[in-house]
Amino acid sequence: MSNIFASTKLTINQAATALLNGNLVAFPTETVYGLGADANNEKAILRIYEVKKRPKNHPIIVHISSEELISKWARKIPDYAFLLARRFWPGPMTLILTRTKLAKDFLTGGQDCVGLRIPNHKVAINLLAEFESLGGLGVAAPSANLFGKLSPTTADAVAEELGEQFNSKDFILDGGMCGVGLESTIVDCRFKQPKVLRVGAITNEMIEVVTELKLINDHIGTKIRVSGSLKSHYAPNADIYLEGIPRPGDGFIALSCVKTPKGAVRLASPEDDLQYAQILYHTLRQADKRSIKRVFVVLPELGGISTAIIDRLERAAYRG
Ligand code: TXA
Ligand code: MG
Repeated sequence: MSNIFASTKLTINQAATALLNGNLVAFPTETVYGLGADANNEKAILRIYEVKKRPKNHPIIVHISSEELISKWARKIPDYAFLLARRFWPGPMTLILTRTKLAKDFLTGGQDCVGLRIPNHKVAINLLAEFESLGGLGVAAPSANLFGKLSPTTADAVAEELGEQFNSKDFILDGGMCGVGLESTIVDCRFKQPKVLRVGAITNEMIEVVTELKLINDHIGTKIRVSGSLKSHYAPNADIYLEGIPRPGDGFIALSCVKTPKGAVRLASPEDDLQYAQILYHTLRQADKRSIKRVFVVLPELGGISTAIIDRLERAAYRG
């Protein structure tokens, strides 16, 4: 079923009720579309794993509408986590914090921590606030794609990828194309200093400035499972090439200032890095739809959000 609904006061209210009744609601955030379920409903969460074909030990982020709910889900919160929350929420950042009893194993993959995020999207915030006003405490939502595939940045992409598994009580709320286009930055806040587990629009530099702390950048000693840290991830069907010269008929993505090699199919010409991030997943999905088998990409220069663009493209290109 496609189940796409324009986001209105009425449909958001119906979707919030559907969540409370244990159904699934895919909704837009500023990063990517999420596949939401009541974070306290084990059966509904199990359905998320089934629909996504995701291994059960991968934890799911809890989305809340305001800081007031943080203490329901997390404890032993360091001061720097509050600094980050105040500066970057609502926004494209997830904080990993020590869990309270409310965050059950079925949500955290059995780990003693919970991921929390307040998204910066009107539809998401209205849905979360409505759900909370009905008695809900948080909406668990991974990206609304099949495990290992590209995150969706439009409602159509959600419907194409997961629609068949939706039933008549599930919703896809349409909120247009996501503005950021890449998944949130994940910051582990369980140590004296913050540690970035997934890069995103909130950069390492921004985190260090706000917390006045140095990031932990070793990868030793974490047994934490972040699916985005698997090497081959965020992958389209097409093979991605980060170097080399395209042959006629191959796809090509680069900033608008880069000329298209002869015979290549220009898939996108973003004007700057922010636009590059926003259109990347959508463009790769379009390439798959056109059955383009090889896509050549000119990476943007490191720094700002392009660090996250490069991270995702390197994973998409990984064939190991
Ligand atoms: O931008 C985003 O973060 C989107 C939107 C929908 O909010 N969500 C998203 O969820 O990307 P997902 O599940 O596709 O990626 C979240 C990552 C996963 O790799 C998961 O392992 C990690 O966050 N994560 C979630 N909860 C965690 C926890 N308690 N401990 C460690 N990692 C956690
Ligand atoms: Mg994901």
